[in-house]
This record gives sequence, structure tokens and C-alpha cells, in this order.
Amino acid sequence: MSTNGPDTPHTPGPSIWPIGFAIGVAFLLLGLVISWWIALIGAVLAVVFGLLWARDVTREVRGEVPEIAPERRASAAALEGPEEPLPAYTRSGFLEVSLIGLSAVLGGALTLPVLGFMVLPSFTDVEEDEVDLGPLENFPEGEYVIATYLSNPSQGEVSRRTVFVRSNGFAESGLPSYTILYSRCVHLGCPVQPNGPIDEEGITRIGDVELRPVLAQSFGCPCHGGQYNSEGNRTAGPPVRSMDRYTFSIRNNRLILNELYAVGNVTGTGANATIHRYPWSVPGTHVDGISAWLYPIVPTQVTG
Ligand code: FES
Repeated sequence: MSTNGPDTPHTPGPSIWPIGFAIGVAFLLLGLVISWWIALIGAVLAVVFGLLWARDVTREVRGEVPEIAPERRASAAALEGPEEPLPAYTRSGFLEVSLIGLSAVLGGALTLPVLGFMVLPSFTDVEEDEVDLGPLENFPEGEYVIATYLSNPSQGEVSRRTVFVRSNGFAESGLPSYTILYSRCVHLGCPVQPNGPIDEEGITRIGDVELRPVLAQSFGCPCHGGQYNSEGNRTAGPPVRSMDRYTFSIRNNRLILNELYAVGNVTGTGANATIHRYPWSVPGTHVDGISAWLYPIVPTQVTG
């Protein structure tokens, strides 16, 4: 027996949109802890299901009524008697729409800035021009040279950077091999120093570039005691990954610095090293292993 009669108002059937909306929000919150792309999927789900839910709820207000078969419409009309004008919208409908709208505004205000902070760094990674470090003969095989240069000559000395360059001879492939470590500590960004004496007599200057040979088999950070070995692997202290490195190219027998990248860890040494390479990210960011999942979000502390 049907329970719907003349005195029983028709109510819409159950909808899955609120469930989808809730799942989207759950993914969004989970993603804020685990990974930005899970948060992005959650945000998309929440927006799509939220809109579908809002469309359902506001159907009556917008004057959209479901199609009713002619015979059902006739029998319903016979049961209902003379038509009474319907209100444009009910109070509960108005409150429901207002609540959804307010939730959407508050949700957007809270999540968009967070998503922005998580996603934007991917598009604002350090972009820099090539740097010419000078003739290859200034980099003797097997020895580190401290090279400093202006990363942005228009800003002057404040943009001076330091890299540690070591020629490794030739790799098995026959290509020249260079280890180029960036001096910025991957803990919190302090300047890492070579653990060894600098040959002050052997300083070479080529334009804005200064080269200082150094007898170093390891590197240390003065701020919190971070230590790295000759390949830039962390050996002690709080740094969370190996030292960042630069790619290089050789043009007209000169060494050119190219792109900065992050390193999870290096196995082997010199020309035979296997470098676990990742896109560059700010100091303090884990780039591989379980830690990269447990600690995925680190506020920007330096910009390279
Ligand atoms: S900044 Fe280098 S160890 Fe902390």
C-alpha cells in the first residue's frame, strides 16, 4: 500500500551527492597531510559532488520539477482536488541552500590558500640562467674547487652563490663527469663549508666567478652540525637528504652550470656514482623513502 496520499507531500529520493561530497572533503583533509595531489583529487570531488548536491536541492526553487507520466498526473489531480498555488520556496529549502553556500565559501576560504602553497612551488621552482664557470683546466681531476658566482648580476653580491666542483675524469660511457654540489645546507639552508684547507695561492678570478682549490674530503654545516661526505651524502646531524647538485654542460671547453636538483642519496663515487635525483625542493624537504610520505609539506624557508 502506498503511503503517499493527498496529505503526504512528495519528498525527493535519497541522493548519493552528499556522500560523494563527504568523501571528497575526507580526501582533501587526508591529502593536506599526505600529498598535494591527493588533496587536489579531494578538492575536485568535493566541488563536483557539492555542485550536484546543490543543483538537486535548488531544483524546486529554480522551478525544475521531475517529469510525471500523463496517467499518473491525471490520477494525482483527481486525488488532490483543486490546485492550490505553491510557495516559491520553502523555509527549509532556503536554509539548506544557505548552509551549503556558506559551507562552500568557508571551505574555499580555508582550502584554496593551502592548495596554493602546496601547488604553486611546483610552478615557481628556481629557474636560473646558465652560469659559465670558465675553462675546464681550472678543475683538476679528483680535487674540489670552491666556485662562487653571481646568480643574478643585476642584484650584485647579494646574489653570490657557492658550489663545490670536482672533476671525476670520464664515465664508462666516455662522457666527462663532474660532481657539482650546491653549498646551501639541506637542513635549513645555512652555508656548508668544506672540511679542509683552502689553497689561497691558487685563487682564480674570471669575471664574476672566483675559483678556490680546496683539499676537502667532506663538508660540514656550522649551524647545527650537519655533516656530508665527499659525494654530498649526509653522514651526521639533522639534514634530511644529500646535498643538492647541479647538472652541467661543456661548451667551447668551458664548464657551464645548468639546473639545480635535489638528491635523495648517492651510491658509488665520482664518475661511477648512482645519483637518486629528484626535482629541487626547499631545504628541510624529504624527497624519497617513507619520510617523503610522512613529512610531505614543509613551509618555504628559502628560495634557493
Ligand atoms: S642548517 Fe645545516 S645543519 Fe642545520
